[in-house]
Amino acid sequence: MPILMASPAAPRKLFVTTALPYANGPFHVGHIMEYIQADIWVRFQRMQGHEVHFVCADDTHGAPIMLKAAEEGITPEALIARVNESHRADWVRYAISFDTTHTTHSPENTELAQSIYRRLRDHTPSLIGRRTIEQFYDPVQGMFLADRYIKGTCPKCGAKDQYGDACEVCGSTYAPTDLIAPYSAITGAKPELRASEHFFFRLSEPLVVAFLERWTRETPLQPEVFNKIREWLGEDGAGKDLADWDISRDAPYFGIEIPDAPGKYFYVWLDAPIGYLAALKKHFDSGAARRTYPTETRSFDEFVADPEVEQYHFIGKDIVYFHTLFWPAMLRFSERKTPTNVFVHGFITFSGEKMSKSRGTGISPQRYLELGMNPEWLRYYLAAKLNDRVEDLDFNPDDFVARVNSDLVGKYVNIASRAASFLTRYFDGALAPPGPRPAWWLTSADAAAREIRTWLNDRQYSRAVRRIMELADLINRHFDEHEPWRLAKDPANRDALHRVVSDCMAGFKLLSVLLAPIIPTTARAAAAFLGEDRDFTWADLDVAPTRIGEYRHLVKRIDPKDIDALLAPAPASTGTERGAPAVAAPEATLPTAPSDAGTADAPAAAAATAAISIDDFTKVDLRIARIVAAEHVEGAAKLLKLTLDVGEARPRTVFAGIKAAYDPATLVGRLTPMVANLAPRKMKFGVSEGMILAASGDGPGIFLLAPDAGAAPGMRVK
Ligand code: 2FM
Ligand code: ZN
Repeated sequence: MPILMASPAAPRKLFVTTALPYANGPFHVGHIMEYIQADIWVRFQRMQGHEVHFVCADDTHGAPIMLKAAEEGITPEALIARVNESHRADWVRYAISFDTTHTTHSPENTELAQSIYRRLRDHTPSLIGRRTIEQFYDPVQGMFLADRYIKGTCPKCGAKDQYGDACEVCGSTYAPTDLIAPYSAITGAKPELRASEHFFFRLSEPLVVAFLERWTRETPLQPEVFNKIREWLGEDGAGKDLADWDISRDAPYFGIEIPDAPGKYFYVWLDAPIGYLAALKKHFDSGAARRTYPTETRSFDEFVADPEVEQYHFIGKDIVYFHTLFWPAMLRFSERKTPTNVFVHGFITFSGEKMSKSRGTGISPQRYLELGMNPEWLRYYLAAKLNDRVEDLDFNPDDFVARVNSDLVGKYVNIASRAASFLTRYFDGALAPPGPRPAWWLTSADAAAREIRTWLNDRQYSRAVRRIMELADLINRHFDEHEPWRLAKDPANRDALHRVVSDCMAGFKLLSVLLAPIIPTTARAAAAFLGEDRDFTWADLDVAPTRIGEYRHLVKRIDPKDIDALLAPAPASTGTERGAPAVAAPEATLPTAPSDAGTADAPAAAAATAAISIDDFTKVDLRIARIVAAEHVEGAAKLLKLTLDVGEARPRTVFAGIKAAYDPATLVGRLTPMVANLAPRKMKFGVSEGMILAASGDGPGIFLLAPDAGAAPGMRVK
């Protein structure tokens, strides 16, 4: 009797997002983990017959992106377009099934952000306040500095080069104005205090606090998340400690203009979550929603206002504050529907340590693919470890190899390969008509499938995977106990043989359907092998397979050599988007710009780099150059244009990010080493034909190198 749910009486309508990734660089494995977690859930819901609209967008605004673009000498638009290409490629390669992906730098987002803001401003009482605040300003860069862009000496312990909000040495927190000898982390300049009017979202308004108190209690939040919000709201829920939220930034800023406030922009974190709605709007306006669900004829506005529509955001634990206080409040007081829930995950660690690109720990999702490693391995491994708690998940290379090779390949794929060989050889690929199910199936499989459905819906993937592998064990045992290789020796056992291998193949189909949300590409291949050229639905659990096609190995084992290559220090190109800078690298000569939101790694003092061979080193053609001309570049905040004599017929042009440290006039005539065989790179201001070298640390200052007397232009440095 079919007891597994086929199609639901009333499909749920789901609007699902992941966090929107910053458009300032390629994904790290933490991003990929979140996409996989959400994608498994979404695919599972689609398999149940629910209507799912799964969208994402690049989070494109803010100071870090503006500064990074300036460093590279390109526009922010060019930077976000380049990064978007890299993001889209990875979404596809990891089989993340977003229905629509968009960008926060879009007309939809501008319109929505401005209209939500107007509603908050015009609310009675108004929920937008204005206040003049004093803030550090970098006179060289010509911009106000977020706390993370100010460094100086800790006022408590005297540690040098600490950020403007907290000391990493003694742990104390303070205002940037408390720092001793503050300097701009962008240019090294001494910052000036300047006054400016800022706009605030009045989170502390009693109406807002009362709403948050209610939303928190009515939303089935994870216990860790609920407790965190209770801390913010206070035990009595009165929100005594809630501060109003500064939502404006002064020009220059890459963002969305605040209506009726020239020179003021929304802080990136205001328009970022609105990007969820912008992406959904794009999804509806473009007709994509209706193409997938022809009965969904409503407009974006109608859909998003429908109380029956459930809205879920998958996010990391570092951005809970934004998603459980600001975001629901912004929605509620602009008369919009609030999220049904946020699903929060922890971080991914690597063999017990925080992953860090600068320390060279962790794995690069781009390198993983470049090595030809199968994304389904990673999807399976992460699923085997993910649960519904806000816990960190550890990627352990040995565990990864063991789980994939022994579970996914050794148990699951093994069933298909063993049963297929008998079905093909003795029965021309035809399965025996379903007979009474074997005892193990009756006692375990149906009940397990029901449990697995509940666990996948509840994001308890590790439990589901464990149970799926228990079923795989049962099926393999059934095969072994009936010894088909022995049955095959005597034609009198033909029916018994057919029964056993057909039951095992039916078991393989069962496992494939259950695993389909986790390893969709493999499941699709399994469906084709079983004669269905489409994705499985949950209802396929009730349909016995009748034939198999030609068996081709579905998933290969991980070769431990792949792991060695994955963990080896990556070649320089890995983990950067295409077109990484190849000029007198501002990136190499200036401290890395930290993220506004404080999520990026701090610049490493002396980042560990991998050992290279002498052959690697000699690939770099270092030459002595004489600076024959040096000039400012109009419109470039950091670059100087240098003309270099490298002993060649024609001088070279190089753009160098040293404007903050050198007056061009003092450079003319100097000798300095340069990288002469760097591929020329087209920049906004012209083509750069090499790179000069300079030293820099965490503190201010960029220091050009100089050879001893006697060196001449064109000499090789080795
Ligand atoms: O923390 C981050 O990476 C942000 N870009 C997430 C934004 S989520 C949403 F609000 F857009
Ligand atoms: Zn300190």
